[in-house]
Amino acid sequence: MQAQVVIIGSGPSGLLLGQLLSQAGIDTLILERKSRDYVLGRIRAGVLEQGTVSLLEAAGVADRMHAEGEFHDGIELCFDGTRHRIDLSGLTGGKRVMVYGQTEVTRDLMDARSAAGFKTVYEAEDVQIHDFDSARPRVTYRHQGQNVEVHCDFIAGCDGYHGVCRASVPESALTTYERVYPFGWLGVLSHTPPVSDELIYSNHADGFALCSMRSRTLSRYYIQCSLDDDVAAWSDERFWDALRQRLDPEAAETLVTGPSIEKSIAPLRSFVAEPMRFGRLFLAGDAAHIVPPTGAKGLNLAASDVQYLSEALLRYYGEKDEAGINTYSERCLKRIWKAERFSWWMTSLLHKFPDTGPFGQKIQQAELDYLVRSTAASTALAENYVGLPFDFSD
Ligand code: FAD
Ligand code: PHB
Repeated sequence: MQAQVVIIGSGPSGLLLGQLLSQAGIDTLILERKSRDYVLGRIRAGVLEQGTVSLLEAAGVADRMHAEGEFHDGIELCFDGTRHRIDLSGLTGGKRVMVYGQTEVTRDLMDARSAAGFKTVYEAEDVQIHDFDSARPRVTYRHQGQNVEVHCDFIAGCDGYHGVCRASVPESALTTYERVYPFGWLGVLSHTPPVSDELIYSNHADGFALCSMRSRTLSRYYIQCSLDDDVAAWSDERFWDALRQRLDPEAAETLVTGPSIEKSIAPLRSFVAEPMRFGRLFLAGDAAHIVPPTGAKGLNLAASDVQYLSEALLRYYGEKDEAGINTYSERCLKRIWKAERFSWWMTSLLHKFPDTGPFGQKIQQAELDYLVRSTAASTALAENYVGLPFDFSD
């Protein structure tokens, strides 16, 4: 078999790259190790920056997002039992974020790909990448009992943090940077109206809490939990009690609870692997970097990587110009490190850290108080939360 670009992984980065390249006439093949339904069952991100919205529009997959998603002009910070609004749009000259689930973005991209007849192989087993440091890379996999070999020009590693692509790069060619946080997030999805019109990020003596949503009838809530916590130990009732405790009195009173339809624990991590290109292999999205979800940046970084990579490959195929390919890694990493910094900062500000003690708590309180009183400080938060422009670092 033959394809110009083989994309490993059908998460948001692989699918979006596939869409942008395929609609420009480049022949792509996506290989995904799980089933379509499994991929669609993962509940993850919910907040899209304007740059991501624009890229989904350019990819021709924005109709349902505009019909069902919701623009948000602000977020709320809750501490000391009181909520304070950060006017994202007022502080950034009208910029805002779109609340639309990653699951829906993924579904829209999958539907567009299958409607256009571009190929994705789900349940591809034992995907392996070969010879990516030569001019003729290959990918092998097994599907329905058959061994398949694909020759290609380029391989895009969009296979997430646990994928095969980064793991295939010789260790000596990679530098990695990592911080593992001493807690996780316990998330619940429920068919209940959101507690507030905007997202609430709460700093509480018991730990962090986040009130988010997918629609006017579907809510997503998170609470900080311990790394050795077990989902089974968290009944719905225990979750709602813990969440209510971490909110201001009005939100605690208004909170509508109901049965959870999904409940899971995610660890928090910051991670970057450099560089993001090895010969004819490119890494994009979570395959190259992870941010703790506090800043809502993971999916948005995946989108900006894909924008840069699609531009680079279109330039290569259209004008035989390798400049975009050669600068891909450097361009991405400048933006990635800014989002890493912001996500680390939001995490440090809002969570309870076991090792910083009462001094750490006082510093958090002072910073939160400063943040909501100083226009300069809230503008810095707002500017990063809505997303730095995709070409900010160029
Ligand atoms: P993934 O979504 O991980 O997709 C990778 C795909 O590759 C998967 O489908 C996987 O099955 C497949 N794969 C793996 N290995 C192989 C293999 N060997 N062969 C073939 N296929 C393979 N981000 C935001 O921007 N905003 C938010 O609000 C936000 N909230 C989040 C909340 C939580 C609780 C979590 C956990 C994450 C959140 N994120 C958020 C982060 C966001 O979900 C990720 O950054 C995003 O999924 C990255 O997309 P990706 O396509 O790069 O990787
Ligand atoms: C979500 O809705 O899942 C979500 C929203 C904001 C975040 C993280 C997750 O910062």
